[in-house]
Amino acid sequence: MIDEIREFYEKTKFKVGEVIEWVDEYKPPINWVKIFFKTYPRMKKISMDRFEDEGEFCRLLKDRESTREFNDSPIPFEKLNKILFYSFGIKNPEVSSEHTRRFYPSAGARYPIEAYLLNNNVEELNKGLYHYNCKSNELESLLEKDLSLESSQIFGEAYKGNPNFIVINGVISRTEVKYGINAYRFALIESGHIGQNISLLAQKENLGCCALGGFDNDKLSKLLDINQEDEIPLYVFSLGNLKQ
Ligand SMILES: Cc1cc2nc3c(=O)[nH]c(=O)nc-3n(C[C@H](O)[C@H](O)[C@H](O)COP(=O)(O)O)c2cc1C
Repeated sequence: MIDEIREFYEKTKFKVGEVIEWVDEYKPPINWVKIFFKTYPRMKKISMDRFEDEGEFCRLLKDRESTREFNDSPIPFEKLNKILFYSFGIKNPEVSSEHTRRFYPSAGARYPIEAYLLNNNVEELNKGLYHYNCKSNELESLLEKDLSLESSQIFGEAYKGNPNFIVINGVISRTEVKYGINAYRFALIESGHIGQNISLLAQKENLGCCALGGFDNDKLSKLLDINQEDEIPLYVFSLGNLKQ
């Protein structure tokens, strides 16, 4: 990985104790909660429609919200399968591999993203760590183990209710060969595209999910057994049944 990217990642990764705990009595400073808007008060304005009832896709956009309280019950394997496939999968596997495309855009079609699942709570799937092999559309079992201790150490409060975690990693060198130092920015942008797919698919499947930037990068990398020179955790989504 290019030195500047490595240095930036090192300086911006979360460590144990830096993860913000979302507890009820938490009272953030005002400039953490005040939302700012840019306006041009003196300029001419064209009014626009806010739209109501535009069909399922728009309803999913509207209803998506972060879930931080999960019901400790397993999610159906089929729902997990659907979310992983439409977030990370290959949509045209019949073509030669260099022409395959995904459900999200990727700078220069370099596809630096890898996906993992920390399965704490999925029906018909042994608890443990999996890699999603997008080429074969299979989950590769890396570790069969109850990961509740690791989940609480890596994700803190976000583990409340025993959700699963989808981990989005970047193999930055795949994009660096074409875009140099821009590779890290592009990998983050691509994670965002995928994250939106995960969020909307979870909403469609009536599951809860939450985007997580606050996780312990080093502990997660250790669990995944990855060398941060090659591959780095970028973004995580918790996923579970909604608390009724
Ligand atoms: C990049 C990113 C990182 C986030 N990290 C966390 C996190 O670590 N913990 C958490 O509880 N929520 C996290 N969130 C969720 C935001 O707090 C949430 O999206 C925001 O409050 C707006 O609420 P909504 O998602 O319900 O619309 C993150 C969201 C984004 C986009």
